[in-house]
Amino acid sequence: MKIENVRACVFTGAGTTMQIAEEFCRATGIPYEVADITPQKRAVPAFAPGDLAVFAVPSYGGRVPAPAAEKLRRCVGEGVPAVLIVSYGNRAVDDTFLEMADVLGEGGFVPVALGSFVAHHSLMTNVAEGRPDADDLAAVRAFAAQVVEKLARADSAEAARVASIPGSRPYRTFGGVVFKPEADADECTTCGLCVRFCPTGAITFDDTTATDVDRCISCFRCVAVCPAGARTIGGGEALTAAREAFAQKCAVRQEPWTCL
Ligand SMILES: Cc1cc2nc3c(=O)[nH]c(=O)nc-3n(C[C@H](O)[C@H](O)[C@H](O)COP(=O)(O)O)c2cc1C
Repeated sequence: MKIENVRACVFTGAGTTMQIAEEFCRATGIPYEVADITPQKRAVPAFAPGDLAVFAVPSYGGRVPAPAAEKLRRCVGEGVPAVLIVSYGNRAVDDTFLEMADVLGEGGFVPVALGSFVAHHSLMTNVAEGRPDADDLAAVRAFAAQVVEKLARADSAEAARVASIPGSRPYRTFGGVVFKPEADADECTTCGLCVRFCPTGAITFDDTTATDVDRCISCFRCVAVCPAGARTIGGGEALTAAREAFAQKCAVRQEPWTCL
């Protein structure tokens, strides 16, 4: 089947999922557009015949981050082939692919390839530092080439559908983490970038140094976009201890995994 355009939808907090998705898109050698669907008010793009859809999300608690799932549910692409990409912090992706495929299936997308790639853990920042590294990115590019080849050989998206998707139902339960971003009022310039990029409306223009912890999903996009360095992960000693324990649990290097 002929692919005329690659259209990617990416949810990213600290930026690694975007890095991986862009590497993938570039490596297809096909004209592409990347939509950052993370900000709460950002609409999802429209898909058309001739598109290859790419959906990329980080795994949170082995699941699709809730606001990302909400956005994916709004995507419509009857019979459009879709590549599902999951970034994760060297623990596991658990049910992330299955949840993605279930949600996207409602919109008519046909999963034709899956790829998971390790990236620097955005909360346990002592884990998977420097990833994706050069080897990971080479694997992303190889994956893109395989996808292009697979679709060139297939008569239809349906003919290229992946045989099975890892994960189980009911999905793993994930209620979020207790660690939330902190803001330094002395450093904050009230530029409002954190407000605009937050996926859940947890920060408002009324007080850019406050975070609604019930809405916040700890993606740390606000930390990543703050030009003044006023927002940090915070967490104190409790987070330091959690990081040490987590690093021990996830010490073995995980490698990219793909399925076509
Ligand atoms: C709240 C939260 C939950 C996470 N849960 C997992 C997990 O279950 N398994 C894992 O390997 N990594 C987990 N991670 C790490 C992220 O999946 C990983 O850092 C990812 O690369 C983040 O993507 P980003 O840089 O685009 O935000 C979690 C990170 C956060 C902030």
